[in-house]
Amino acid sequence: MFRLCFIVIFASISVNAKPNIVLFMADDLGYGDLGCYGNTSVKTPNIDKLATEGVKMTQHLAAASLCTPSRSAMMTGRYPIRSGMASSNLMRVNIWPYSACGLPPSEITYAELAKDAGYTTALFGKWHLGVHSETEHNVHHPLNQGFDYFYGTLGTNMDDFGPETKVVTLSRPYWYWELFSIWSVTTVALICLCRARYISVFTCVLLIFLWSMPVTLVYWVFDNVLLFSSFVHRNYDLVEQPIRLAGLSQRLVQEGSEFIRNAVQADKPFLILMSWVHMHTFIETGKAFTGKSNLGRYGDALEELDWSVGEILKLVKSLGLEDDTLVYFTSDNGGHVEIAPDGGYNGILRGGKAHGAPDGGIRVPGMIKWPGVLPKGTETDEPTSLMDLYNLISSAVGQQIPDDRTVDGRDILPLLQGNTEISPHEFMFHYCGNKLQGARYRPRTGTNTWKLVTYSPNLIPGRDICQFVCSCNHAFVLDTPLLYDITSDPGETNPIDSNSKQYKDIVPVILEAMKQHKNSIEPTTSQFSFRKVAPRFDWQPCCNGTFPFNCYCTDPKFPE
Ligand SMILES: *[C@@H]1O[C@H](CO)[C@@H](O)[C@H](O)[C@H]1NC(C)=O
Ligand SMILES: *[C@@H]1O[C@H](CO)[C@@H](O)[C@H](O)[C@H]1NC(C)=O
Repeated sequence: MFRLCFIVIFASISVNAKPNIVLFMADDLGYGDLGCYGNTSVKTPNIDKLATEGVKMTQHLAAASLCTPSRSAMMTGRYPIRSGMASSNLMRVNIWPYSACGLPPSEITYAELAKDAGYTTALFGKWHLGVHSETEHNVHHPLNQGFDYFYGTLGTNMDDFGPETKVVTLSRPYWYWELFSIWSVTTVALICLCRARYISVFTCVLLIFLWSMPVTLVYWVFDNVLLFSSFVHRNYDLVEQPIRLAGLSQRLVQEGSEFIRNAVQADKPFLILMSWVHMHTFIETGKAFTGKSNLGRYGDALEELDWSVGEILKLVKSLGLEDDTLVYFTSDNGGHVEIAPDGGYNGILRGGKAHGAPDGGIRVPGMIKWPGVLPKGTETDEPTSLMDLYNLISSAVGQQIPDDRTVDGRDILPLLQGNTEISPHEFMFHYCGNKLQGARYRPRTGTNTWKLVTYSPNLIPGRDICQFVCSCNHAFVLDTPLLYDITSDPGETNPIDSNSKQYKDIVPVILEAMKQHKNSIEPTTSQFSFRKVAPRFDWQPCCNGTFPFNCYCTDPKFPE
């Protein structure tokens, strides 16, 4: 009996020993953007195929509704706040890659787990988790966070990379005037003091000069995000500045394909993260896709994204690796509804990117295909987390998850395999920056999942959107928290009556879990202090020149 067990276990492990791992991560793709999530107006056949060949998750949740914290949580399986990656201020993402904000090296990423297990690992596309720390160069760089190879952008795509608009004016339309007013009022005050002979003319001129410098600097930095943040790196080398967005998808596909071929030639299992720059604005596509969809440039980009995924999967298949490859597809957060039609579509969900608890910002597409291990074409409506990827990879590569820290991801394999019907997540917590604004509760019995919302975002009155992005600091506490049966009311339209027995039974359980969760957060250095998020002029890379002059180059590998 014992021997039989041993043989069975051994056989089941050896069949799937070290599968290759292909991870697709879209940027700001909404819950309602894909054909397999009910969208009939765009065509995403390659991505949809993952749903028919794997398991589709309909309640797949990001730990944050913005890139940097959500990606931090995925890489580590931990809520961003545990790693110092949850911000307490307005700046919730790493806007300038060359600041000192980044994923702490003490974190153990899934790429590190895979690498330790003998995998060759690579990241293509967006990183957005920092480069240098104050004390050590490149500690946050992908090559020091578990990836053997990197080609892509250390920061993120931004509106400033296109010719139309700038992030600063999108978030504060009167920004230039505000800055100018502050400067003029102060300058006039100084001149008055001078004329009243409280200070000498010399002091007055000196003070005006000294005061004008930081104001000009702030203006210059925010007006030149392109110069400060737009680059493509290959490993540590800056190869393209600024990013040529048109054709970037094609270059990512080419680089990713080369890596896969090399790994196969070296006979090594591989893990690649294709971290697409689509669907984030500024949106630009290669010639083959521009103007081809019926839905403007957002639709064009969606079709290009689908094509890119298809190209990688085609290659995997043509190399005969399909049955031995785990494929995962998701998006870092929901669609950016404020910037429609350039932002994604979240279907019936409320809210979107950057909002706190509303599902539109955190519930995203999620499909996993793992031939021989997972069934084909099934679906789970149970709550799962993007952080579960951490546990999934650890079991796929045969590594233990670290036991010296809290890991918030859970083993969802039994759920995906259909061996259990209940999510391993009894509670899930919904943050805006470092503020806990809601939680989910999946009781160990029954079929429903509950969601409690304790804060409301600062929506424009009468509308379901904010000004460009919602601010966590301006969200307001709800006197009576709202409870939803998120299973039957995914659009969060019918809160449970707060006088009902149901409300009174369930809400205290969730509030207690939120309290315990808060208590479980150990103090750590915030990566979002002013000193850390400010751009560092001395670190700014510059192609073919000296910062800030002549910072342009194209990669000789991709000359046109
Ligand atoms: C499909 O997605 C597009 C792009 O986000 C959106 O504009 C459209 O309304 C969606 N259509 C349907 C039928 O869901
Ligand atoms: C560097 O700058 C010079 C002068 O502006 C230009 O002629 C040259 O093509 C640039 N080199 C690269 C690699 O971009």
